[in-house]
Amino acid sequence: MCGIVGYIGNQDAKEILLQGLEKLEYRGYDSAGIAIVSEDNNHLFKEKGRIAALREAVDYNVNGTVGIGHTRWATHGAPSQINAHPHQSASKRFTIVHNGVIENYQQLMREYLADVDFVSDTDTEVVVQLIEKFVSEGQSVEGAFRFTLSLLKGSYALALLDREDRNKVYVGKNKSPLLVGISEDVNVVASDAMAMLHVTDQFVELMDQEMVIVTRDNITIKTLAGETIDREPYTAELDASDIEKGTYPHYMLKEIDEQPLVIRNIISKYQDDNNDIKLSADIREAMKEADRIYIIAAGTSYHAGLVGKQLIEKLAGKPVETHIASEFLYNMPLLSEKPLFIFISQSGETADSRGVLVKVKEKGYPALTITNVPGSTLSREADFTLHTFAGPEIAVASTKAYTAQMAVLAILAVDTAKAKGIEIDFDPIQELSIVANAMEALCDQKEKLEKIAREYLAVTRNCFFIGRAADYFVCLEGALKLKEISYIQAEGFAGGELKHGTIALIEDGTPIIAIATQEHVNLSIRGNVKEVAARGAYPCIISMEGLQEEGDTLVIPAVHEYLTTLVSVIPLQIISYYAALHRDCDVDKPRNLAKSVTVE
Ligand code: F6R
Repeated sequence: MCGIVGYIGNQDAKEILLQGLEKLEYRGYDSAGIAIVSEDNNHLFKEKGRIAALREAVDYNVNGTVGIGHTRWATHGAPSQINAHPHQSASKRFTIVHNGVIENYQQLMREYLADVDFVSDTDTEVVVQLIEKFVSEGQSVEGAFRFTLSLLKGSYALALLDREDRNKVYVGKNKSPLLVGISEDVNVVASDAMAMLHVTDQFVELMDQEMVIVTRDNITIKTLAGETIDREPYTAELDASDIEKGTYPHYMLKEIDEQPLVIRNIISKYQDDNNDIKLSADIREAMKEADRIYIIAAGTSYHAGLVGKQLIEKLAGKPVETHIASEFLYNMPLLSEKPLFIFISQSGETADSRGVLVKVKEKGYPALTITNVPGSTLSREADFTLHTFAGPEIAVASTKAYTAQMAVLAILAVDTAKAKGIEIDFDPIQELSIVANAMEALCDQKEKLEKIAREYLAVTRNCFFIGRAADYFVCLEGALKLKEISYIQAEGFAGGELKHGTIALIEDGTPIIAIATQEHVNLSIRGNVKEVAARGAYPCIISMEGLQEEGDTLVIPAVHEYLTTLVSVIPLQIISYYAALHRDCDVDKPRNLAKSVTVE
């Protein structure tokens, strides 16, 4: 989704900003721009499309040591050069970039800006025009910025330049992530620390409804009421090499291959010297105390949550409901007396999940976030955090974060069971090492999986994934992976549900990918395969060692029945990857998608 960078220092800002924007490319965007303050003016360069196009549009004769940059994922107004950020006020004195959505922008336009001619269709332009209006009425720039922020409803991360003061960048934040990075005689602004790691690893977090005046050698954080706030920086523990592709053609393939390592990493982080589970006593207590657990998540993380429900219920005997965040937000079910909320989020920034967290905190319920980004909004605002230790996930299609989430959920489920004194015959640490080996074996079968992708998916219009019990959850994820990167219409179904309607879509040659890793439903899912095959479908059966039948397309190594989803998803990820390549799709940056969905 949209990304912001800003720089105020002693070097030429252009290249630093462009490099910063390139680091944010993975988040998904459809246009990009930078503004540079030079001796005499604010210079604006923006283009629809990729940053490569922006690089071509930049006038390299323009030099300046202050600037801001933006990647835009369109919400208000089509992706276009005009709607791309930065935006300027009517006199061009002020230049702004914005992430988020200003919900009351039309009302503000009517109330304050009736006589202003707007250039773009964006909500952002209202903000910069308001600042100019209030300055023209006599307010200081800081006062006008603060007053404007106080009028805004919705989410924003903003960075503002003033042509008449080349020594300041004003920033403000509400609900959208924004950080200020500090170094010697250089300060930066970034919506994601990764974007500015080439300048500093020292960052200061901003809280909602705060603003900052950033100069070369100072940052002043203030509330919207004007009170100054002191806050210590933290070190962003990110290794810049983690965010490089290395020899891989795509981040997605690299991240698929990293999964065995991630699982081993999780084992080492959650195991103590006695080979027992290492988890904070507070989390253990919160899990034990809760009479019902509500898992809240979106997309792939929601699919991990479905598996988490099963693990916690089966192992720890605790009732769990898994909900789609955006639905839960506006249609909350009746809650139990002592609920515990678990938020699962790779990025820790998903606006839908955060919306629920805000409501949950208002009601005073405890919350645990399972995330790949400790320090993210969901992690900061929850009472507890469990880290998934997957390392930065850059490809838009989530792979290693998903398997890491399920691994951490398995550990949490076992820990809760033990805390409740339940005897279980399942050692997650040992079983997860078997999972890591199985993943490795599948990652080594790319040639075979590429052939399957070619045979089943190179030209098809649609594809159905079917499975029962835990296999059904992985079918939902397999279908999501395939559709998001290859644009094939793909749906995951519970095997028994097809004949209640969807079977009408089966035609000659329709590919059906069936997953069979659950012994208790093996015969039933095979029956479902026969039903669709009899109607012309072209089945690809992925089964597990010990349950395979002659003619199965792929047999995955056997792992514990609680952990099959971590392994059966690997061929689905790899098949999706090759299907996308066969269809000439941009694997790492699928159309219309963003990595971190920071608007509701
Ligand atoms: C799909 C994908 C998305 C995310 C979803 C939630 O590959 O990545 O469906 O899972 O947008 O994002 P997080 O986990 O960051 O909350």
